[in-house]
Amino acid sequence: MPRQLFVTTALPYANAGFHIGHMMEYIQADTWVRFQRMRGVKVDFVCADDTHGAPIMIAAEKAGKTPQQFVADIAAGRKQYLDGFHISFDNWHSTDAPENHELARQIYRDLRDNKDGSLIETRTIEQFFDPEKNMFLPDRYIKGECPKCHAKDQYGDNCEVCGSVYAPTDLINPFSVLSGARPELKSSEHFFFKLSDPRCVAFLQEWTQDGKLQPEVANKIKEWFSVRTNPDGSTSEGLGDWDISRDAPYFGIEIPDAPGKYFYVWLDAPIGYLASIKNLLTQRGQSYDDYMANPRLEQYHFIGKDIVTFHTLFFPACLHFSGRKTPDNVFVHGFLTVNNDKMSKSRGTGLNPLKYLSLGMNAEWLRYYLAAKLSARNEDIDFNADDFMARVNSDLIGKFVNIASRAAGFLTKRFDGKLTTEFGGMGAAILADIRTESDAIAELYNTREFGKATREIMLLADKVNAYVDQHKPWDLAKDPANNEALHQVCSVLINAFAVLTRYLAPILPSLAQSVQSFVGLPMDQWDVDTDVVAIQPYQHLMQRVTPEQLDALFGVIEAVAPVEPAQAAIKKIVKATPITVSVDPNAPGGEALAPTIGIDDFAKIDLRIAAILNCEAVEGSTKLLRLTLDAGEKDDAGQPKTRNVFSGIASAYKPEDLVGKLTVLVANLAPRKMKFGVSEGMVLAASHGDEKSNPGIYILNPWPGAQPGMRIH
Ligand code: MSP
Ligand code: ZN
Repeated sequence: MPRQLFVTTALPYANAGFHIGHMMEYIQADTWVRFQRMRGVKVDFVCADDTHGAPIMIAAEKAGKTPQQFVADIAAGRKQYLDGFHISFDNWHSTDAPENHELARQIYRDLRDNKDGSLIETRTIEQFFDPEKNMFLPDRYIKGECPKCHAKDQYGDNCEVCGSVYAPTDLINPFSVLSGARPELKSSEHFFFKLSDPRCVAFLQEWTQDGKLQPEVANKIKEWFSVRTNPDGSTSEGLGDWDISRDAPYFGIEIPDAPGKYFYVWLDAPIGYLASIKNLLTQRGQSYDDYMANPRLEQYHFIGKDIVTFHTLFFPACLHFSGRKTPDNVFVHGFLTVNNDKMSKSRGTGLNPLKYLSLGMNAEWLRYYLAAKLSARNEDIDFNADDFMARVNSDLIGKFVNIASRAAGFLTKRFDGKLTTEFGGMGAAILADIRTESDAIAELYNTREFGKATREIMLLADKVNAYVDQHKPWDLAKDPANNEALHQVCSVLINAFAVLTRYLAPILPSLAQSVQSFVGLPMDQWDVDTDVVAIQPYQHLMQRVTPEQLDALFGVIEAVAPVEPAQAAIKKIVKATPITVSVDPNAPGGEALAPTIGIDDFAKIDLRIAAILNCEAVEGSTKLLRLTLDAGEKDDAGQPKTRNVFSGIASAYKPEDLVGKLTVLVANLAPRKMKFGVSEGMVLAASHGDEKSNPGIYILNPWPGAQPGMRIH
């Protein structure tokens, strides 16, 4: 009986296209799955969109769509990424599908009605409520002044300026990000999963510490059994109960026997794994219950290190105490950065997967490069453009693909494409060497040590290349007397190439398929003993990466001159660091649009044309310039009055470049006391949402004719 595996990747939030971090997870899992399939293991590999929760509900509203339509539109865009990078999912489903509603509600009922005592409990809690939007506000939708350092505009759970952690109720002058209204404290009944129940603690201690998890993951989890950090920054002992309900309006699954209460998105999201496999089985006419009851079924989840709690505590506990099978393992990977830039979870980085494909860049270059960097540990890895080009061009093409191109021409021209099986002593020894590594390389794949696997394979390629250099087929070809030797050497090379291709096939499935037609032997099975007997004429298998492609991918742009005085400064920046554009198809300038406002909201902002009378550097600050502005105002005595405004534009403009120019001032902004003095307003400037990789600040400059003091409507 072959093994039967049920494998998933994390379900991506259905609020945007994929970024390169998602693709890394899919490539890692897909490589492992393809390897298992090559070994004859049966694998069902599924995923789905994670559709529920407040952020998606709000994004849909902003887009003027129903949440259902919004997530359907996102789902429609998935295929181009998955096909483009050869990700072999057997099914793509949705957490909003009927299977998931049904399964989540049933699992909840089973937990509630657990025969040894219910694991669900209700408690009344107080929470911030937006009186205009008529909804409870998740922490990230509340902002206010930090209670510790008094920085303005900080999120409800932590301060980005001083780093302190607190509860939203600790904020000074809190406001709703959605409406601007002051949130009110309101109490509501919530449902909790009793993770602190001794049964749960005992079960999870065993489940997480029995040796199946990666050691670094198990060690981290161990800490959670002793202490946990509360929202207000204090600590408590042991596992805390888990709040699994949210009040309407919420895009989610309604809790049985609790109208107006919905499951918190993280309750139903992992159940989406089960919904997706159930949907696949239904399509095949198979029974889900039978499938899950198979004692030989192995269930594995590939996830990133940020979602370990959900997969190693909440999810296994929900499954176990509702009488269901728990995962056999959870494989945790680290985070991908691009050119050492941390990626935003929603916006990604400068490496846009679709742009990569649209530039004609080969998906398997990326698969190979990431595989070469991946290990079984959850360490972070970096995509580095130079390193990428080196690994692809010198290893993948230089060492591996070239083996075939060096031998194929001679075989086709001189020997009608036929190979000999007389390999000679040295040739036979090399082939035996390569074949004996089969089990060792298989074990590296099986344990997700892809980096080690590629290194082993490249060492074998080195041996083959040394053999080529020693026997020099191009020299042999010069004298017909050496025909037999030439035939032998080229036949050894093609056979070596066939075996190496099989070793790389989990990473390079499309190339392997081309090689299959080229050598006439299966490349989708791990162990094939047959020798190659004939080849088809050689067709190019893979091109090299060019520096131009990488420049285009990262959008190195020319120094353009949107505002004249800035030209010199911008040129300097462009020289120092290439300007990279972080392209997000859904976000102009790298930032999502702010919520819609009415004309009345806009009218609250008084924008005026202002003349820059003076401009100077600020001692002690590398960022700020001090501007003296004339916005057409007069004092009580009728004398011209100026304003003092600090602006963080020193990186882009020299003071003398700005003097005498007109710009735009937010004239009714409350004065702000800064370290260097009081700032009486703000000048407008444009910048990219991802300023780190897209430096450049452009202050606004009105059309000729505008006069200081004119209002901008
Ligand atoms: N919707 C949840 C997962 C629910 S699973 C039942 C979620 N979605 S996500 O879209 O934010 O992330 C999906 C997966 O991508 C997660 O495993 C996450 O760790 C992974 N990654 C997100 N950014 C990443 C990198 N920069 N690098 C590698 N993986 C990254 O979390
Ligand atoms: Zn603070």
